[in-house]
Amino acid sequence: MPIVLAIESSCDETAVAVLSGNEGGCELLASEISSQIALHAPHGGVVPEIASRSHSQVLRLLIEQALQQARIDVKQVDVIAATAGPGLASSLLVGHTAAKAMAVALGKPFVAVNHLEGHLLSPFLGTASIPPHIALIISGGHTMLLHVAGPGRYRKIGSTRDDAAGEAFDKVAKMLGLPYPGGPHVERMARGGNPKAFSFPRGLVHEPHADFSFSGLKTSVLYTLPKIDDLASALPDLCASFQEAVIDVLLQKSLRCLRENGLTHLALSGGVSMNGTLRAAFQKACDKYKITLSLSPPSLCTDNAAMIAFAGWIRHRMGHSDPLDAPVDPNLPMLSHTWNTSSFTSVCITSRRKFGVAFACQRIFR
Ligand code: KG4
Ligand code: ZN
Repeated sequence: MPIVLAIESSCDETAVAVLSGNEGGCELLASEISSQIALHAPHGGVVPEIASRSHSQVLRLLIEQALQQARIDVKQVDVIAATAGPGLASSLLVGHTAAKAMAVALGKPFVAVNHLEGHLLSPFLGTASIPPHIALIISGGHTMLLHVAGPGRYRKIGSTRDDAAGEAFDKVAKMLGLPYPGGPHVERMARGGNPKAFSFPRGLVHEPHADFSFSGLKTSVLYTLPKIDDLASALPDLCASFQEAVIDVLLQKSLRCLRENGLTHLALSGGVSMNGTLRAAFQKACDKYKITLSLSPPSLCTDNAAMIAFAGWIRHRMGHSDPLDAPVDPNLPMLSHTWNTSSFTSVCITSRRKFGVAFACQRIFR
């Protein structure tokens, strides 16, 4: 029963989790999260300097708390995992460096995890196998549709060309004078509103590809504001109409992607998948079209270390570990972290554009 301790520090949540796994599945023994929302809220967004300082202040205590919660001694940990990217460089470095230091001190393997892979696998946490499906990751930094053939076998089908879905929620919330992060506030405000009150654009929805665009929607909300006399009383309708436009695009694109890839299983992950109206809309459509819908429990939608521990355990189970000089990468592409040969070609293509062939191959073979 290998025990994995994982650290997540890619943005504004410091998190530590402990997971015990075997061939039949795994069990989460502890999951601790220290949120920095209150520290960043006065600035209307995440301040990298504040984030990294806070990570280093709370991490040690969080590790101790997670070990206590799991009722294990640190010497019983078999694998140390940490988020390597994407994220804020200075934040990533705190958790990544601490994890590598623990791996050295304990003489245990280190596994670097892609934060997006953590989100992508989170709806399946606890299970022993990852079924073929379409994954929709909707977070503050990413909006992405992927074909998942199995663990480590991912093909990106589409992503946002501008704002991520969560970013659109946050920016629109800011325009409307709602606190950061905006998603939960927009959702709460939308509860009493009419989603048909304003007709907002559905970016790229009829285009024959799986990319997204939310910047036109955001601008449309901005241009609507001066035309409203009483903003306070229009807020519920504005929020409900904006929210429906986002959900509509995400749903239509996901359904098309399922159809085109001949799949009947969809999995949602990332902070925006916490939205109750979105979950209900997806469930209704999936029931109608006989599609299996996998949703992360709300506690695993936003950033957490349980999903990093799960991804780390799966990677470890497949014989993967990373060297102790492994770097963090704020722009780590999803495909560079795959390790199966079938995705090798796409790994090279994705990475070549960014880093050049030599560096790409060095990353793949290390
Ligand atoms: O996955 P996450 O914790 O962080 C990233 O990896 O980016 O996602 C955070 C995002 C924020 O943009 C936040 O506004 C959004 O998730 N979010 C929501 C809801 N809860 C969080 N968006 C819509 N409705 C929600 N209930
Ligand atoms: Zn995230």
